[in-house]
Amino acid sequence: MAPIRSVIAGVGSYLPARLVTNAELALALDTSDEWITERTGIRQRHLAADDEKTSDLAIAAARKALAVAGRSAVDMIVLATATPDNTFPATATRVQAALGMTSGAAFDLQAVCSGFIYGLATADNFIRSGQIKSALVIGAETFSRILDWKDRGTCVLFGDGAGAVVLEARDGQVNGEGRGILSTHLHSDGRYYDLLQVDGGPSSSRSVGVLKMEGREVFRHAVVNLAAVVHEALAANNLTADAVDWVVPHQANKRILEGTARKLNLPQDRFVITVDRHANTSAASIPLALAEAVGDGRIKPGQLVLLEAMGGGFTWGAALVRM
Ligand code: UT7
Repeated sequence: MAPIRSVIAGVGSYLPARLVTNAELALALDTSDEWITERTGIRQRHLAADDEKTSDLAIAAARKALAVAGRSAVDMIVLATATPDNTFPATATRVQAALGMTSGAAFDLQAVCSGFIYGLATADNFIRSGQIKSALVIGAETFSRILDWKDRGTCVLFGDGAGAVVLEARDGQVNGEGRGILSTHLHSDGRYYDLLQVDGGPSSSRSVGVLKMEGREVFRHAVVNLAAVVHEALAANNLTADAVDWVVPHQANKRILEGTARKLNLPQDRFVITVDRHANTSAASIPLALAEAVGDGRIKPGQLVLLEAMGGGFTWGAALVRM
């Protein structure tokens, strides 16, 4: 019997309506469009409205992914977020209720910018083991709520948004090409906890806190760790980088993407890039980029797609998917 694989049966995304350009930020902050564009590639970001919560973004993205997959329910909802609506319950349960689902499991997962890869790996393992037959993996964030809007070194870098995929259990050999998630690879190294963190939380400060980052150090680790985990994913599948049709990376900084492309010896036009328009949306950035490239026809059925991310913790990971 062929092994079970998790196939991506639907992708969806949602961006809040409010667009904020670099020029608009420069009105209130000692920064410039030129600095932000040159150092990061970011030109604009979407920010949630005051009454728009992470769950609202997640629900909108999930509805689209479910519609594409032609489903109204799944066995499991994994919501990757570092910006939940409340400390508890899990925002995923609010999403579950809004989608009209009353069975199965829904929970949040916290791996910051690597959250979507961690969520995909979690759901994929439940599917492969036969415990569930379908899952929604969502990345949704309202980072605008945890930014220090007076800190030009961090607040210009992030945006809000959500993306979702529906996974379905399928026979791995169903179309000869073996569609589905080929493998996932997760890592963390908590020695770097302080380099990228939000300086508050229920058990430390009894408050939410704001994001703090040693940007240069994070940058240095990102390029090294991402290249290593990509090589690990390729080697695990006896593949070389030239077999990859598309890289859908976490979108933190265009220079990180360029550095990764150089290390992998892959042309940049195989990278799906949204950081210019979305900025860094943490756990939402990969499914947002995936939804864009699937939606506009760049990513086609049967193509090999590499997902990779790195974030606070540090955490990092990669997934190889045959679409
Ligand atoms: O998603 C999780 C992963 N996160 C990341 O991957 C982020 C990784 N880090 C980065 O993307 C980059 O390190 C940053 C974009 C955060 C910073 O770029 P950088 O080239 O490393 O700049 P820097 O932090 O070394 O700062 C250079 C200068 C400093 O001025 P001095 O000390 O040289 O006088 C900063 O004060 O740029 C200044 N600066 C700014 N100037 C104008 C920092 N932020 C700004 C700003 N506008 N927004």
